[in-house]
Amino acid sequence: MGIQQPFHRPRRLRQSPAMRRLVSETSLEPRHLILPVFVADGLTEPKEISSLPGVYQHTIESIKQVAHDVAATGLGGIMVFGVPKDEDKDATGEAGVSPDGILNRALAAIREDVGDDTLVMSDLCLDEFTDHGHCGVLGTDARGAQVVENDATLEQYAKMAVAQAKAGAHIVAPSGMMDGQVAVIREALDAAGFEETVVLAYAAKYASAFYGPFREAVGSSLKGDRRTYQQDPGNARESLREVELDIDEGADIVMVKPAMSFSDIIAQTAASVDVPVATYQVSGEYAMLVAAFERGWLDREPAIVESLYSLRRAGADMILTYFALEAARLINDGGAHGAPVGWQNR
Ligand code: PBG
Repeated sequence: MGIQQPFHRPRRLRQSPAMRRLVSETSLEPRHLILPVFVADGLTEPKEISSLPGVYQHTIESIKQVAHDVAATGLGGIMVFGVPKDEDKDATGEAGVSPDGILNRALAAIREDVGDDTLVMSDLCLDEFTDHGHCGVLGTDARGAQVVENDATLEQYAKMAVAQAKAGAHIVAPSGMMDGQVAVIREALDAAGFEETVVLAYAAKYASAFYGPFREAVGSSLKGDRRTYQQDPGNARESLREVELDIDEGADIVMVKPAMSFSDIIAQTAASVDVPVATYQVSGEYAMLVAAFERGWLDREPAIVESLYSLRRAGADMILTYFALEAARLINDGGAHGAPVGWQNR
């Protein structure tokens, strides 16, 4: 009995690197990638973060070099997080608002150095600056119970946004998940003459276990959790509501975070909005990949590239990732159509 020949042969379109390039549906370019960085006050030299091998807390001097690399590599931008000294943390996060705080000083130094060669972006949140580690200020509700106070927090965010724009941020990125934060920030920026400053809203941000290493990176003092403001990982519709509200309030770009385990949310968001969609491959996603590379369990370069391709395929226009510089170098070395060496050609 002869074997019947298949009529449909999808393998035809996979037969060679040139053929695969022709039909590739997804592109990954350096401009799609944004590098998150940490600048710490009181450091004299860069310090590696133990749970994020290859990622450093930087000094203002060393961050300028990184910003140059970001510009030279053609990345989309650099997202700056500030790490104050413990003694500068307080209940309301003043070190995040003050122009003398580490984040605003770092933004000014970077912007002065890179000008408009790359985009300087700023995390806009209080958790790095509060002594209790929450993203907002604490207060008591009408019953006297302790809560993260939404509206009191908004006042701090408005001041922070203006301070960051003054320091030189092209883009501010509110990540605290307070209700109404985008509207308040937009209004404050406009009132201060910063109507061209872009708001990249962390719109759908989940209460995730994958932020673990970030807490070490910023020396967070959080006890308890963020579940009264960040979303339940079991919910999807709720993200569409958060995204809609943020766009309504004036968000220029919306973000879904984390990335890899929320790619359904990226896809739904991309299908339902008409603004650019960002996603954040967070610290825990980076850490678990690097841990597998260190054990020889995964092949580093193709795994990095595949993880980023999958987020582009899901619908992300841009990706924040600690792999940004390394991935961009792979892409740049790989030549045409953003196909990195060892990826589409293998
Ligand atoms: C809040 C913020 C966090 C991250 C980015 N912005 C921490 C949190 O919400 O708990 C996490 C990023 C990462 O894990 O890489 N300022």
